[in-house]
Amino acid sequence: MASDTLTITDNRTGKQYDLPITDDTIRATDLRQIKVRDDDFGLMTYDPAFMNTAACRSTITFIDGDKGILRYRGYPIDQLAEQSSFLEVAYLLVEGELPTAEQLHRWTEDIRYHTYVHTNVIKFLEGFRYDAHPMGMLLGAVGALSTFYPDAKDVHDPANRYIQRIRLMAKLPTIASFCFRHSRGLPYEFPRNDLDYIGNFVNMTFSIGGQHEPNPVLQRALEILLILHADHEQNCSTSAVRAVGSSGVDPFSAVSAGIAALYGPLHGGANEAVLRMLDEIGTKAQIPAFIERVKRGEGRLMGFGHRVYKSYDPRAKLIKRTADEVFAETGLNPKLEVALELERIALEDDYFISRKLYPNVDFYSGLIYQAMGYPTDYFTVLFSLGRLPGWLAQWEEMITDKEQKIARPRQIYVGKDERAFVPIGER
Ligand code: CMC
Repeated sequence: MASDTLTITDNRTGKQYDLPITDDTIRATDLRQIKVRDDDFGLMTYDPAFMNTAACRSTITFIDGDKGILRYRGYPIDQLAEQSSFLEVAYLLVEGELPTAEQLHRWTEDIRYHTYVHTNVIKFLEGFRYDAHPMGMLLGAVGALSTFYPDAKDVHDPANRYIQRIRLMAKLPTIASFCFRHSRGLPYEFPRNDLDYIGNFVNMTFSIGGQHEPNPVLQRALEILLILHADHEQNCSTSAVRAVGSSGVDPFSAVSAGIAALYGPLHGGANEAVLRMLDEIGTKAQIPAFIERVKRGEGRLMGFGHRVYKSYDPRAKLIKRTADEVFAETGLNPKLEVALELERIALEDDYFISRKLYPNVDFYSGLIYQAMGYPTDYFTVLFSLGRLPGWLAQWEEMITDKEQKIARPRQIYVGKDERAFVPIGER
């Protein structure tokens, strides 16, 4: 018998089955041969929240949650954060290799050429209420882009997919900045194609009357944050992009689904939730009472814990360093003091230690964004800008993977058996 197999005995029938093991994994569909009767559906696995189910084979991002390792296409995240630009990392994720100077030039120029959005986009953004959440605006606007580019439906043409990738990379910062200006009642600032990707975005958000003095430390810090968020393998929003994209829909609609998933407080919305939590705590003196409430199950310590990282989140370490650089530039944020003390107390508390709960990427990112001048409800928009290359890379991988089909999980039906309809007067 081959050693790389799993032998299963079904005690209901006494039958034995040998299932091949590849990459430490068995195929769930191999279990279907395990039946009691010939007309059985066959054995399934039950895995709510996909705790132990691989839905794809991927070459994009490697994470070892126990060791705190994160690599994009094999390159350690700290090397990329320290030495790379966001567009270079985006190219790496989407195309699979670091670009040559010539490839990076073309990628950058293609994106620069597509930064403008159709003026009708402005018209419907103006229809949002003054206090509309920018994530709601962003996901609506990105979904609506599919109506401007019906050619994007041709998802099986590689050249077509390239142009849609470029459009999304180019237009997301423009739309994101328009959402920012909308909530502040400021006129929209159009793209400046003499600036680089980050510089143009910052200019579109903060420029007043065409004037903005760029701060290179803050711009580089923003770039590092975007790099750190650029991909994280099969997280909730990426799985949403893949699942929705598996129906064959255009990438604008699929990415819009990713933005919707990211909006949730347990995912990208956590950085926003951290700031609200720090506001609620208020002062260092209130921290012990807050921790006790969390331990009683009355709320969570936002910015702590992760489904895969169980020793530390390597991004959190890099973000803390970035926070030091930003605060040296902007002055100390009083909330930072509360955050540092909260982290210290939680890391010494057995509740958090025993559950392997450590600060995640969102614990400090919100504080940095706030110091840069972004309002709390805008943080997840910044996360979306960072995550876009990951969504695009994963969508591309899904579309070109011959093994993928439309995503369609199974269920265990536990409802009523067949019963006869009861007329309303007899109920
Ligand atoms: N505060 C207090 N307790 C927690 C926390 C927390 N932040 N996270 C997990 N726990 C407890 C949880 O109550 C459970 O305890 P018990 O075993 O006694 O029932 C145990 O730890 C395991 O939790 P879980 O909910 O089974 O873990 P999960 O892997 O499903 O959740 C998580 C991962 C990130 C959703 C969760 O840790 C959480 O809600 N964290 C706060 C929100 C947050 O910071 N999210 C950002 C994640 S990183 C950025 C991103 O991916 O978007």
